[in-house]
Amino acid sequence: MRTIGLTGSASGIGAATRAHLERAGHRVIGIDQRDADICGDLGTVEGRALVMGTLAQQCDGRLDGFVACAGVGPQVESGVLIVAVNYFGAQATLAAAQPLLARGAAPAAVAVASNSASLPNALAPLVDICLRGDEAAARTEVLTMATPSVYGAAKRALALWVRREAPGPAWAGAGIRLNAVVPGAVQTPLLQGGLDTPGLGDAIRNFPIPLGGFGTPAQIAAAIAFLLSPDSAFCCGTLLFADGGTDALLRPTEF
Ligand code: NAI
Repeated sequence: MRTIGLTGSASGIGAATRAHLERAGHRVIGIDQRDADICGDLGTVEGRALVMGTLAQQCDGRLDGFVACAGVGPQVESGVLIVAVNYFGAQATLAAAQPLLARGAAPAAVAVASNSASLPNALAPLVDICLRGDEAAARTEVLTMATPSVYGAAKRALALWVRREAPGPAWAGAGIRLNAVVPGAVQTPLLQGGLDTPGLGDAIRNFPIPLGGFGTPAQIAAAIAFLLSPDSAFCCGTLLFADGGTDALLRPTEF
């Protein structure tokens, strides 16, 4: 049995990941705003510190796995909230989990990015601001941006943070594998919120998915479980696209 911390455990992909891991016999410590083992707000510095401190107590200072899954969708009116939760919340919780993972067995961490990180509107100055760790500047920068661009740029920054950190001394050097899963459109309350938003809904519906139709939370949970397990023992800094072929279709000459 492995002990795994999981943010966003109350809904969608996080809830499916919790179910998948528990079916396999692992102990999951879920973090969310509600209906979780540890409740708190990952959109604030204080909230992140509180939940990660509580996690350290509940796991006795030792984790075998950690998944940063919590997030809000591009339909959220506040770009500040999107970058605060989707980049800084994910990055800060992964960083806080690192010393706990360093004491675990065959430890692995997974970030949940998005294939929207490869869209042209994600190539924004916000990416570099996030990677500099300047949350105050990021909160100002997003005020000039449309929220779908904030969503894509925050997820792009998260994927690039994983690529930058994974091979370094704190992660690979400490025996901890850090990877990301990169979902496309997956039928969850977050996606439904986007589909129900005028303008955004049609853009999501018109997005090409070669395998046909939206993905399921269980399909993404299986990809996350793979990246946590010894089956992916040679994966480090991997961005595992699970998007029905959308990224391959839109960017056939890049990887
Ligand atoms: P969801 O809305 O079903 O679940 C997200 C969870 O994150 C919720 O339980 C929510 O309470 C939690 N959360 C949000 N803000 C929080 C905060 N400030 N503090 C603590 N917890 C908070 O959404 P879904 O679709 O399962 O999303 C999971 C992850 O997958 C997100 O990071 C999302 O950006 C990503 N993703 C989702 C896609 C989709 O089509 N559903 C596509 C690509 C990425």
